[in-house]
Amino acid sequence: MQKKVTVPEIRARKKDPKAITMLTAYDYPWALLVDQAGIDMILVGDSLGMVVLGYPDTVSVTMDEMMHHIKIVTRVVKHSLVVGDMPFGSYNVSVEKAVENANRIMKEGRADAVKLEGGKVMAPVVEAIVNAGIPVQGHIGLTPQTASALGGFKVQGKNAAAARQLIEDAKALEAVGCFSLVLEAIPAPIAEMITEAVSIPTIGIGAGVKCDGQVLVTHDMVGLFDKFVPKFVKQFAAIGSAISDAIAQYKDEVENRRFPEAKHSFTMKAEEIEKLIQILDK
Ligand code: KIV
Repeated sequence: MQKKVTVPEIRARKKDPKAITMLTAYDYPWALLVDQAGIDMILVGDSLGMVVLGYPDTVSVTMDEMMHHIKIVTRVVKHSLVVGDMPFGSYNVSVEKAVENANRIMKEGRADAVKLEGGKVMAPVVEAIVNAGIPVQGHIGLTPQTASALGGFKVQGKNAAAARQLIEDAKALEAVGCFSLVLEAIPAPIAEMITEAVSIPTIGIGAGVKCDGQVLVTHDMVGLFDKFVPKFVKQFAAIGSAISDAIAQYKDEVENRRFPEAKHSFTMKAEEIEKLIQILDK
């Protein structure tokens, strides 16, 4: 039985020479593959909306959709710490609503922690969720749920004032009790400064190699999402084209009666077939 990764263990990995690993998963086969590979944290991200549900962005994802997928993942995972993402609209209405939805992710979803997007302005919400006994992972820089307010999916913190704001955001989230912090699409030197400025682990996505850990959307890193490939994604495999090749071969073999072969078919004793013919002839 593999040992489950805990929140204190992730906290203790600050400055660990061996970087923390995190990937997304949304369903049974992928959660199993990621967990069995020994990845430290699995994020059931609201990227679900784009890579699985076919929405144009993450804004449309609902609490019910998140709950459905969080439950699948936590049912499977034995090792990785599971973080359930709070979707847009689930924590920006009121602090009470945010705590209620975070409770749902923990209680019904059986996640180990929640993640929500936003800097200093979200500190009161984070504080209330942490005070309710729920570990929170922060997320600053490019926050896809508010991409329209940021002017699109753009690198953040590119000038001194914006970079200073990001450092303040990180410190504010640390002060209210986040156990770790996702840094998305931030210039590497700024991500390194943030990593130095806080005592909680930073998990980078498009934030350079100096973060305490790295996260990617699994469908991106295996080449299964074809709409666009962000600059920060490395495709470690080409699963999408391997699946397309398999489907094309299946189509060809079925249409031309090369599949199924004898080894894929069931047989019956000749005498039983003979008996059946005689019964039918009567
Ligand atoms: O939803 C998600 O997958 C995320 C990652 C990009 C960090 O928030």
